[in-house]
Amino acid sequence: MAEKSFKYIILGGGVSAGYAAKEFANQGVKPGELAVISKEAVAPYERPALSKGYLFPEGAARLPGFHCCVGSGGEKLLPESYKQKGIELILSTEIVKADLAAKSLVSAAGDVFKYQTLIIATGSTVLRLTDFGVKGADSKNILYLREIDDADQLVEAIKAKKGGKAVVVGGGYIGLELSAALRINNFDVTMVFPEPWCMPRLFTADIAAFYETYYTNKGVKIIKGTVASGFTAQPNGEVKEVQLKDGRTLEADIVIVGVGAKPLTSLFKGQVEEDKGGIKTDAFFKTSVPDVYAVGDVATFPLKMYGDVRRVEHVDHSRKSAEQAVKAIKAAEGGAAVEEYDYLPFFYSRSFDLSWQFYGDNVGDSVLFGDSNPSNPKPRFGAYWVQGGKVVGAFMEGGSGDENKALAKVAKARPSAESLDELVKQGISFAAKI
Ligand code: FDA
Ligand code: NAD
Repeated sequence: MAEKSFKYIILGGGVSAGYAAKEFANQGVKPGELAVISKEAVAPYERPALSKGYLFPEGAARLPGFHCCVGSGGEKLLPESYKQKGIELILSTEIVKADLAAKSLVSAAGDVFKYQTLIIATGSTVLRLTDFGVKGADSKNILYLREIDDADQLVEAIKAKKGGKAVVVGGGYIGLELSAALRINNFDVTMVFPEPWCMPRLFTADIAAFYETYYTNKGVKIIKGTVASGFTAQPNGEVKEVQLKDGRTLEADIVIVGVGAKPLTSLFKGQVEEDKGGIKTDAFFKTSVPDVYAVGDVATFPLKMYGDVRRVEHVDHSRKSAEQAVKAIKAAEGGAAVEEYDYLPFFYSRSFDLSWQFYGDNVGDSVLFGDSNPSNPKPRFGAYWVQGGKVVGAFMEGGSGDENKALAKVAKARPSAESLDELVKQGISFAAKI
């Protein structure tokens, strides 16, 4: 059992870790000062690829193609790049104990890692149907997607069950992206989710209606308003059928579950202040414990624009929060300070030939503009959210680079809107004028 000491430790090897390491390298670290500790066996990579390019039937994305920080057009940090930059990359190492008062971490193998400054970047883990006691949910080929090992299992199952039947449980990000990926791989796909429409945490009924019809036209079957209440397995343990709460039964060769994620904060329970399910931070991602920072999915941070504190489970924030924390750490060492984090929420998704972007806040009234006919070969439509007479959120499917920039500008500027009708009439040109 070894003991090692570092000036800085980044705990986690995901998107935030990759971007934090890049920022440390930009700011300058001496050899041996910084370690990245990850339970994954590979260097930090752009996680969004796992539900998209990684699952393509042809020309699939594979590492080292999508290591951080290619997702934002930055330098690709290959495993050897960490060494070249003097950063110790400690892979396949799960931290099972953290003592923030003693500034030490202990791995599953019993190794001890001491630090002066810690950045917690442990991200999220999936919610499992076994957590809710769903009968038969531990059958083989009931799969989840968070890390590259999960994606590899999924790729194997897709090969083994070629052209079979897939049931996708969940109507959120994973549900929509994975239904499309399985359909592209020629599976007979049925999506099941409890709400009246898909992606209810962002989409309005109108927006969801477009995606549901588009998916149906692509051959995806959609069952709403019910949940998977149990599974039966073949004698070899592989899933055979999905029982739905409404009494229906679906055959399945593969089941993909995407019923949400929870931030990985359990190592630090009782040692650090929490809020809204995450680790509470200030605008520099400092936690309540001196010299401990938290970034990415685990951080509950002040969203300055809205005078609110929030957790954000999206890649843009994981990158920017990581950069902010490292800038703040390095500035403080030189007796300086950086500006407060002033984040504009940005989410996106891609599936089939579709691609949407959203900026701002999805609160208040909403209106649709453009042509949301799902049968059009190149659908191009959007939505605005208006609260207190101001446009606070903007969404677009099929927007160009300039149009997406306009969405960001309008959501940041929050201009007054004369009326909802006027927004419908002006469409994207309203945002483009900002
Ligand atoms: P992230 O999950 O990336 O990394 C956490 C790391 O910590 C992992 O390497 C994990 O193994 C490690 N770890 C955890 N506990 C540990 C321990 N005890 N010891 C050692 N290591 C530990 N967002 C978006 O805006 N657009 C998109 O298209 C997508 N697409 C997408 C697809 C898929 C499949 C997923 C799962 C997620 C997305 N996201 C997304 C969300 C986005 O990827 C997510 O918000 C970021 O990855 C969060 O970055 P973090 O670094 O916080 O966690
Ligand atoms: P989600 O919160 O987006 O969606 C969860 C969905 O699960 C809900 O919409 C609901 O339909 C469904 N649900 C809840 N309980 C259910 C049940 N018992 N049976 C059936 N359905 C049920 O979460 P997710 O799709 O699992 O995504 C996991 C994480 O990965 C999130 O943090 C998400 O932000 C991230 N992610 C993001 C993207 C993106 O931003 N493009 C893509 C993939 C994953």
